[in-house]
Amino acid sequence: YLNGGWCKRTQQIRSFPDGFLFGAATAAYQIEGGWYEDGKGLSIWDIATHTVPSPIKDGSTGDVSADSYHLYKRDVELMKELGIDFYRFSVSWSRILPNGFADKINQPGLDYYNNLINEMLDNNITPFVTIYHWDLPYNLQKLGGWTNPLIVEWFRDYAKILFDRFGDRVKLWMTINEPKQICYEGYGSDLKAPFLNATGIAEYICAKNILLAHAKVYHLYDESYRKVQNGTIGISLSCTWYEPASDTSDDHQAAVDARQFDWGQYAHPIFSNAGDFPAEVKQNIALKSAEQSFPKSRLPEMSAAEVALIRGSSDFFGINSYTTKLTYRDASLEGMYPVPSYMDDMAAVMIKDPSWTQAQSTWLQEVPWGFYKLLVEVRNLYDNPPVYITENGWSTAGGLLDEGRISYYRSYLTALLDALDEGCDVKAYTAWSLIDNFEWKNGYTEKFGLYEVDFSSPELTRRPRESAHIYKEIIRSRQLNL
Ligand code: BG6
Repeated sequence: YLNGGWCKRTQQIRSFPDGFLFGAATAAYQIEGGWYEDGKGLSIWDIATHTVPSPIKDGSTGDVSADSYHLYKRDVELMKELGIDFYRFSVSWSRILPNGFADKINQPGLDYYNNLINEMLDNNITPFVTIYHWDLPYNLQKLGGWTNPLIVEWFRDYAKILFDRFGDRVKLWMTINEPKQICYEGYGSDLKAPFLNATGIAEYICAKNILLAHAKVYHLYDESYRKVQNGTIGISLSCTWYEPASDTSDDHQAAVDARQFDWGQYAHPIFSNAGDFPAEVKQNIALKSAEQSFPKSRLPEMSAAEVALIRGSSDFFGINSYTTKLTYRDASLEGMYPVPSYMDDMAAVMIKDPSWTQAQSTWLQEVPWGFYKLLVEVRNLYDNPPVYITENGWSTAGGLLDEGRISYYRSYLTALLDALDEGCDVKAYTAWSLIDNFEWKNGYTEKFGLYEVDFSSPELTRRPRESAHIYKEIIRSRQLNL
């Protein structure tokens, strides 16, 4: 069938290329528990989930979650059972540096990650370390967090400790997971901690600081560690595909603007030859800022030296991609936002198509051709960079029989194979998530795990879902049997 220009092939068995890697991912706050144990400091998520009234849908916390802080050996057994090549996990900044600053290192925190890494290596699983997946030390948030330019140095000092202590064994690094979610959802709205909601301003200050922090850490690794440690380091962006809702040029432009605001804002400075924020983002924000009588654009400028520092600062393009949105322009909505706002700046309206299969998460629908188009667009825009799919997954309400997740993984992997046929340089695929976990704003109301975690059992029992068996077979055979 044809849908959005993507053609599902009829071939029965399709193979992944030699050297293609399969993995699964998690993040520290979502699975570890041990929130206040062994000298760990508080993070913004510890504070958020302990706020009354709770900002989390089911009022839950990550205090215990899947308790991977104590059950990591069991997690490694699951990885081995699945046969994944690598496991992507994140380090909790405040477990290593309780105050966020490098002057006080928490030895039990280092011990935990050393034990986890060693256990993985003993079982032939490659560690893929995310340096920052959203759990900023609360002490740094009190100083402004990602809106304070000093965070560039704080982040560099923290990353240096990880390179020094784990870099002899860790060869795959991700600096930051999804800067857009950090900046827009955390600072420019109230969807994620720290729930700052300083709309139309804080997310852009955050964007510049986060790009600089990422680039500093990239260069630190490149210049001081790579020769000896011989690893790879990059960033991961959350990339939704925005499809024009109609063939009008307005809707096409709305889709381009939505892509540039959503991920081009971070991809263009790093992966384009020109560097800097994308033209659409600069123009739209400058225009609206002038209309709102701001003396200059609300988007901070980058100096030539900053542009040069950021450009090229990633060995791979990490893509977290889940879904697609229909996008259109609606002139009647212009000016409806009473305060400066990212959504107003973007000037695009995004909607779901009710005919697409819906997951448990309201924002998630199965649209494999959108994933294919995204991969081709990244190839076209950024000169075919090496791509790692660093997250892709499906949520259900629970249960071991997860046909929806199986359909999703199969259709997205088919789209990935189609993109490979088009010459896209995709090198790895990561399923989100290895196990059920605390899903940020929605707590435990949606499950992404290949393995179910029984949160009501004292042992936090892990059991493979049907999808785990299917993923295991795909990895074993390196083939999709369609
Ligand atoms: C990704 C995040 O954006 O989406 C993960 O990197 C997260 O940490 C996943 O768990 C699912 O998102 P949510 O908002 O439904 O928990």
